[in-house]
Amino acid sequence: MKVPYNDLKRANQTLFPKFGERFFDCLHNNKFIGGNEILEFEDNFSKTFDVKNVVSCGNGTDAILGALRAINLKPDDEVVVPSMTWISSAEVVNLVGAKPVFCDVDEDTMVAELKDIQAKITDKTKAVILVHLYGNMPFMTPIVEYLSERGITLIEDCAQAHLSSFNGITAGNFGRFGTFSFYPGKNLGAMGDAGAICARDKFEAEYIRKFFNHGALKKHEHEVIGTNSRMDTLQASILLEKLSHIRAWTSERLKLAKVYQKELRGFRTIKVHEDVMNSFHIFPILIDGRAEFSQYLNELNIGYNINYPVPVHQQPCYKPHNNLTLPIAEQVAEQQVSLPIFPGMTELEQEYVIDKLNRFKRSKK
Ligand SMILES: Cc1ncc(COP(=O)(O)O)c(C=O)c1O
Repeated sequence: MKVPYNDLKRANQTLFPKFGERFFDCLHNNKFIGGNEILEFEDNFSKTFDVKNVVSCGNGTDAILGALRAINLKPDDEVVVPSMTWISSAEVVNLVGAKPVFCDVDEDTMVAELKDIQAKITDKTKAVILVHLYGNMPFMTPIVEYLSERGITLIEDCAQAHLSSFNGITAGNFGRFGTFSFYPGKNLGAMGDAGAICARDKFEAEYIRKFFNHGALKKHEHEVIGTNSRMDTLQASILLEKLSHIRAWTSERLKLAKVYQKELRGFRTIKVHEDVMNSFHIFPILIDGRAEFSQYLNELNIGYNINYPVPVHQQPCYKPHNNLTLPIAEQVAEQQVSLPIFPGMTELEQEYVIDKLNRFKRSKK
């Protein structure tokens, strides 16, 4: 048997005819940028995800950039970012001229919890980018309280957390901004790059909409300095088709995750707080001797991924931070392996993965 790490075709295939119709609509309408599907998508996304003031954009990295531009950071301002994340969450802080301050993550939930954030707060901290990595969320209540008492902006990076929730409230609603990526492999993925941001305040959303459109809401009226980061019509129409399936696809992920949690023997997996609904973009395990384990998976044709092998503070572009010690982020980077989990994965495939993994563990006893 061969089990892929992910197979986008399984979920997409039944939608091919619909995608085809959408594609021809775009060709006929000639409105490749700024078509009606854009506002329709934003509205539909807002309802499906229960988030407010949605602005679509070119990708999830720009979505975070838009949030940081909106809060007007100064060169000395600090933004706390977990080091165990995709580089996007940090690089945009530098792009707006502020300073990223890297924090660690919790050893059980693998996301930054209050204690990890608290350890890095100074009187220069203006914002925290909380990354709901793998789809998991920290215990949100004390984080929200702590930051709001201090007037520190919370930005939720929900690139991996479509429909994840805490106490029934979806990710993206806890911060001043929530940012989303629709990179093809994400739980809601486009056929190229695309992203969106939701904002608590509609005027801030309007500013961000301008920012993504060269600073203009009306043609030739460039009110603020902006950039070009618009979702194109074709991506919006593909995402619109997919939106009606996202709940079913998320349920499939949850079912697969539950089986892994129940059947894997002796593996360290991720802890999910009782109040959290983790949408399981990724199912991570931690394992000593990852090289040998990866080799074993290769031999058995089991696909896997590593998210991420180097914590951001140790990347060459963050040289001044390279000597910083963040033990848990470093341990996750060294031991993490992502198992196959995707809509359309069969029971047989999962049984195969679990059986082979458990055999590996038994052979080590
Ligand atoms: C945690 C996280 N933040 C931000 C991003 C950036 O999204 P994009 O690739 O759409 O720019 C990603 C996606 O790769 C991500 O996983």
